[in-house]
Amino acid sequence: MTARRPDGRTAKIAVIAGDGIGPEVIEAAIPILDRVAAKHGVSLAWERLPYSADHYLKTGETLPDAAFQHLRDDVDAILLGALGDARVPGNEHARDILLGLRFKLDLYVNFRPVELLHPDLTPLRLPAVGPSGRPAVDFVIFRENTEGQYLGRGRSSGDEHIAEEVNTGKGVERIIRAAFDWAKAHGKTRVTMSDKSNAIPTHRIWQERFKTVAKEYPGITAEHRYVDALALELVREPQRFEVIVTNNLYGDILSDLGAGLVGGLGIAASANLHPGSRHALFEPVHGSAPALTGKGVANPIAAVLTGGLMFEHLGHPAAAADLKRAVRTVLAGRARTPDLGGNGSTKAVVSALGTLV
Ligand code: NAD
Ligand code: IPM
Ligand code: MN
Repeated sequence: MTARRPDGRTAKIAVIAGDGIGPEVIEAAIPILDRVAAKHGVSLAWERLPYSADHYLKTGETLPDAAFQHLRDDVDAILLGALGDARVPGNEHARDILLGLRFKLDLYVNFRPVELLHPDLTPLRLPAVGPSGRPAVDFVIFRENTEGQYLGRGRSSGDEHIAEEVNTGKGVERIIRAAFDWAKAHGKTRVTMSDKSNAIPTHRIWQERFKTVAKEYPGITAEHRYVDALALELVREPQRFEVIVTNNLYGDILSDLGAGLVGGLGIAASANLHPGSRHALFEPVHGSAPALTGKGVANPIAAVLTGGLMFEHLGHPAAAADLKRAVRTVLAGRARTPDLGGNGSTKAVVSALGTLV
C-alpha cells in the first residue's frame, strides 16, 4: 500500500476504540504496536477519541463535523475498534462514524487479507502448504467501500421497502484497478472478480470494467465467479485464490467467510484505503462481540494485525512483518484465546506477544 511518509518518525494515530470489545482489543494492541514501532525507530502518538454508542447516548453526537475535519486534516491514520451496541438498534452511530469515514474520506478500498497463519486454524482438510509452496490459504479481498447498497439509498412506503444499489463506472473501475495494481506489485498471477450479473442486470458494469482493466495487466489471469459459486469454491479450494475483487456487500460477507477459513474473526484484519492518499482507517473485521465484552477473553490478534496493516501504510513494512512473525509464533504456542480453542486471556496473548517483539 502507499506509504505516506517513508522517513516520518512520528505518526499521529487517532483511536476510536468504540463499543463492546473494541476498547479491550485496542488497548491490548497499543502497547504491542508501540514496542514494534520503537524497535523500528518509529514513534506513535496516540489520540483517543470518545466516539461510541456510550458517547452517542450521552450527548446525541455521533461524529461531529469538527472531529471529522480533524481526522481528515491532522492525523496520519485512524485505528478503530468496533461499533455496535444493542442500545442503538438503528446503528446510527456506526453509520456516521465507520461508514461516514469510509465515504467522506473516499476510502474506496477495503483491503482484507485472508492468510492461514497456523495449519491447525483452518476447519478444512487442506495440505499445510499449497502447490506453489505458499501457505494453504493466502488471498486478499478488495472490497469496494464507497458504493453498493451501503449508501442507504432507497425508500419505504407502505409495505414496500426498496434498497438501491449504486454501481458507478468510476467506482467499479477504480476498485478493480486497485486489485490489479496490488496483484502486480505483489507478484500475484490471478485476480478473481465476483458479482451477480446473471441475476442483477446492472452488474453488467462489473463485467465491462473488469474486461477493460484486465487488458492492461497481461501477466495476470483475470477470472470471474458469480458470488454464490465463489462462496462454495472458497470452502472447497481456497488455496487457488490470490486476489478477489467485489462489491461492498459481497466483500463484507466473503471477508467473514474468509476469516472462518483461517481461524475466525478473532484474527482477521482490515484496512480502509484510498491508494495514493494519506487518509486511511484501520479496523479489525470483527464487531463489538457483546457476549464477550468485559470478560477479558477477546482475541486481540485481529487488532494487532490491523496495526500491522497500519505500519505498512505508514511506510514501515518491516514493522508489519515483525508483528506477523510474532503472531505466528504465538499462534503456534499455548497462549490462545477461547475462540481459537485455547483458554488464554486477552492479557496472556498480549504478554506472549510482548516477549516476541
Ligand atoms: P461480531 O464480530 O461482534 O461477533 C461475531 C462472532 O465472533 C461472535 O461469536 C463473537 O464472539 C466472535 N468474535 C468477534 N470478535 C472476536 C474477538 N476479537 N475474539 C474472540 N471472538 C470474537 O459480529 P456480530 O455479533 O454480528 O455483531 C455484533 C455487533 O458488532 C453488531 O452491532 C454489529 O453491527 C457490530 N459490528 C461492527 C463491526 C465494526 O465496527 N467494524 C464489524 C462487524 C460487526
Ligand atoms: C464490517 C462491518 C460493517 C460493514 C458494519 C458494522 C456496518 O460488518 O466492517 O465488516 O458492514 O461494513
Ligand atoms: Mn462485516
